[in-house]
Amino acid sequence: MPERAGVARLTRVARVAAPTASTGLMPPPRSATARSGVAGGAPARTALEPPTGIARLTPKAAAVEAAARELRHVMGRFATGVTVVSTTQRSTIHGMTANAFLSVSLRPPLVLVSLGRCRMSEMLPRTGRYGVSVLASDQAQFARHFAGQRISPVDPEFVWHDDLPLLAGALAHIGCRVVDVHTAGDHVLWIGEVEHLYHRDGEPLLFYTGQFGTLREVSDRVSDPEQTVRLTADPPRGQP
Ligand SMILES: Cc1cc2nc3c(=O)[nH]c(=O)nc-3n(C[C@H](O)[C@H](O)[C@H](O)COP(=O)(O)O)c2cc1C
Repeated sequence: MPERAGVARLTRVARVAAPTASTGLMPPPRSATARSGVAGGAPARTALEPPTGIARLTPKAAAVEAAARELRHVMGRFATGVTVVSTTQRSTIHGMTANAFLSVSLRPPLVLVSLGRCRMSEMLPRTGRYGVSVLASDQAQFARHFAGQRISPVDPEFVWHDDLPLLAGALAHIGCRVVDVHTAGDHVLWIGEVEHLYHRDGEPLLFYTGQFGTLREVSDRVSDPEQTVRLTADPPRGQP
């Protein structure tokens, strides 16, 4: 589940008293003009204005947020693989990291991906098709990139099958046509009929308690008592 709940995010931003370039919450100012939002510069970022989010939380809304955090926390114990879901429109490739992916039916062959509010959800009604690339253990940089965590520049390569882009180097590719769509709470289940399959042998990338890792790394982490604190902490922003 992506962290799109406005209140929690607003609260994180809200606690920063005086945002500076080093907080990571806003890009460094390009010039004094840009900082002040005077014509010719970039407009001032309203997201960092004094917040009122916490005050507006009713007890019921606070309970909903707490339950959502707890569910995310518990679901972090469900170790998963990691995929990049991809689609294309007007020669543009769009990819996003997703682990809410599963096989639904063998006859007919159906899979689904559960998407929250994201650009992919806006594109799929138009493209009607998506690809799923199951990431290999050396592809964590792509998982971060396609989750919007652009830490270092990456240069993902795509291979094409029947006009559908799939991430090169992945362990498996599944190409689908959307045949059913169900809204479920704050997510939408995109059911796809499988049209293309590919796999190779190799080591998978895992996601466990909000962190990426190889099979060995995850295993080492869970058996190291010093890691316990990190494993019980909330996953960072932008992660399900
Ligand atoms: C490991 C991991 C798994 C994720 N799984 C999902 C998921 O299954 N569904 C979802 O909607 N977002 C998921 N996200 C969050 C999206 O990748 C993130 O919101 C992304 O920026 C959406 O891209 P878009 O808005 O450009 O389409 C996941 C993020 C991470 C790091």
